[in-house]
This record gives sequence, C-alpha cells and structure tokens, in this order.
Amino acid sequence: MRTILPSDLSHRDRHQLLLSGVSPRPIAFVTSVDAEGNVNLSPFSFFNAYASNPPIVAIGPAIAAKTGRAKHTWLNILATRECTISAVSHSMVHAMNLTAADYPNEVDEYLKAGFTKRESVKVSPPSVAESPYSMECILMENIELRRDIGGNGNLMLLEVVAFHVAESVMRNERVDPRALDLVGRMGGAYYTRTQDIFEANQPPHIPIGMDGLPEHIRTSSVLTGNDLARLAYIHTLPAVDPAFMHFEEAVMADSLEIELAMFRPKNALYAWLQTGNRSNVTELHRIAQVFIAQGKVEEAWQTLLMQNSE
Ligand SMILES: Cc1cc2nc3c(=O)[nH]c(=O)nc-3n(C[C@H](O)[C@H](O)[C@H](O)COP(=O)(O)O)c2cc1C
Repeated sequence: MRTILPSDLSHRDRHQLLLSGVSPRPIAFVTSVDAEGNVNLSPFSFFNAYASNPPIVAIGPAIAAKTGRAKHTWLNILATRECTISAVSHSMVHAMNLTAADYPNEVDEYLKAGFTKRESVKVSPPSVAESPYSMECILMENIELRRDIGGNGNLMLLEVVAFHVAESVMRNERVDPRALDLVGRMGGAYYTRTQDIFEANQPPHIPIGMDGLPEHIRTSSVLTGNDLARLAYIHTLPAVDPAFMHFEEAVMADSLEIELAMFRPKNALYAWLQTGNRSNVTELHRIAQVFIAQGKVEEAWQTLLMQNSE
C-alpha cells in the first residue's frame, strides 16, 4: 500500500489522485444566467446532495489553477443567486462535453451543444429539456475553500426549490434508476453508465456482524467478504433446522460439480450427502455461496451449520 501526502504532488497529480478515489461522481449540468441575461450551461462533477429537509445540494466550481479564471457559472450564481441543475443521461454525454469548452461568456452553450431550454417555474435560468430530471436552485451560501493558502476551490450550497421529472422515468410513483440511465464521472476521461444496478438493502435490525460469525465460517477459504457480510446481517445465530437436510424422496441430482455449475444448491447438497465423504466441508461452503448469490441466506446458514452437526 502506498501512502501519498498531498503536499508531495503537483496540483495536476493531486487532482487526478483525488478524483480516481472519489468516483464515480454524479454530474450537475448547471444552467446559470448573468446580469445581462446571457445563458451559461456547464458540467460540474464536484457535486452531491447533503440534506433533504430542505433539499440541499452543492457544486464546486474551481478557479482555474493555470489561468486564475473564475468559472462563469460561479460568477453568475454569485450575482443572481439562482441556477438549475439537470442530470446527465448516457444519451447526453458527448453533447455535454461540447459545453465544457472555454467559450467566451456571451456564448450560449445550449446552441453549441444542441440542447433545448425548458422554462423554470421558480428561478430565471432554464433547464435542459433533454434531461429526464432537473432541479431549480437558490444559492444558500458560497464557501471559499482555503483561499488563505492559495486554495482554488469553492463550495456552493444550493437549496432546491423545484424538481422536474419526466413521466417516462417514473414507475409506481418512484423514479426508476434504470430508465434515468445516468452517467458518473470517474478519473480522467473515464465515465460509468448506471446500468449494472443491484440491490443491497441494509439489515432491518442490529446485525451480529462479522465478529459474531462462528470461527469456521469467518475463516472460510471459499466465502468472500461480501458473502460473509450477508451472513453477518442476521440478528441472532440461527439454530440447526433438522428439516433442512431431510429429503422426502430421492432427488434426481447430478454430481456435485454439475449441480453447482447449474446453480442448483439444494441438489448439490443432496449430491454432497450421497458422497458419504462429509469431511469435505469446503464443498459445503461452495454450496452456501450459491445460496447466498441467490439471496437465500437462511438456506446458506443451514448449509454451513451442517459442518457442526456432522
Ligand atoms: C464531466 C465534467 C465535470 C466537470 N466538473 C467540474 C467541477 O466540478 N468543477 C470545475 O470547476 N470544473 C468542472 N469541469 C470543467 C467545467 O465544466 C469547464 O471549466 C467549463 O468550461 C466551465 O464553464 P463556465 O466557465 O462557463 O462556467 C467539468 C467538466 C466536465 C466535462
């Protein structure tokens, strides 16, 4: 493991190192307007939500390290105290890149990138009509980040005063993340698309935790950290359920390897019982792993507890 102190890096390397670990980041596609009414549209991935009552988000427009130029977005929001933030879907990525160029202030990036303006209801800047999700925001506070030591960052806290969500991304009165198809920014020119979506519900009670797992499970050479954590979600250690390994009638099971490959853990367990070699507990852990992958954590526990009862 390498330990790196920020003070030992150039600004450029520090920037890349920071952003490769704070990743992926959501992208705020910010529309602001200057005092003369010139519209500005620019992406900011120093962006996140910090409160929901009231809804508060923040963006971080930096003062350019090389030129000392302040971002138009920053100046506009300081002057008018308003902006909109549109989410960036995969279909918008390359047009979004067109808006990030260093255009003079009077250039309207909506025209450069071919986006359409949607009128706002609470603030004067419009939002991006092509985006399925946008927010109208009012500036709460701008915090200059260590300007005393030459820092170039800003944190703009923005209160959301209106949301706009496309009907096409609503399912059962909730926003469907698959339909939004948002992108995240990673280090350098890397982006990620939010299509590999999985669920990870938090345990609904105080879990036993990793340190509550029996030694023979915790030190498994088969189960991964995620597998062990899923087992550690439970509230109390389960008791052996004798019915679990009781098979009413002969199961048409193939060999243990085939059953595992076919993701049929219950059949694999039956095959394991037939082998007569019950000292091979590694196989029990492999079977439990398949149960966990299928979300059948109780069955995984019963499988692992057979190690004790053998
Ligand atoms: C995906 C993406 C994310 C960006 N995030 C930031 C950011 O968080 N802070 C920043 O200062 N610049 C960021 N930039 C660069 C600005 O978008 C760029 O400097 C833009 O020209 C600023 O426009 P403005 O001066 O009209 O406000 C980002 C660029 C891209 C493409």
